[in-house]
Amino acid sequence: MNNKELIKYALEAREKSYSPYSKFKVGAAILTKSGEVITGCNIESASYTPTICAERTALAKCVSEGHTDIEKIAVVGSLEKISYPCGVCRQFLREFGKDMLIICATSEDNYTEYKLSELLPNSFGPEDL
Ligand code: THU
Repeated sequence: MNNKELIKYALEAREKSYSPYSKFKVGAAILTKSGEVITGCNIESASYTPTICAERTALAKCVSEGHTDIEKIAVVGSLEKISYPCGVCRQFLREFGKDMLIICATSEDNYTEYKLSELLPNSFGPEDL
């Protein structure tokens, strides 16, 4: 699946965002190496701290359905400029590989693509324990 198609899934997932406090909707879509697409949105909480980002929602769904083979993830925020995954999400994704691609988009036609290792250099991961 190409980046544009995956971004489309992330845009659809963003519609489901539960973000009454920040009003900042985020959507994410993961493509597994076996070709499945698993999406997520951010989910906020009245007590704030339990809030989960779209990327971690998608990854939790993915892993809990048995997929740890991540090829790429597309992420869309709410601004006209590109939003990038927060540090916590970078580390959470890192668990499942340094080489996965992170596609940060505002639309199907405006995105930048990084390897996770570019967004989280010199990272700590499962091989380091
Ligand atoms: N958020 C994400 O979903 N992903 C990120 O990488 C950054 C932030 C969410 C969390 C919160 O619901 C809202 O955006 C504002 O921080």
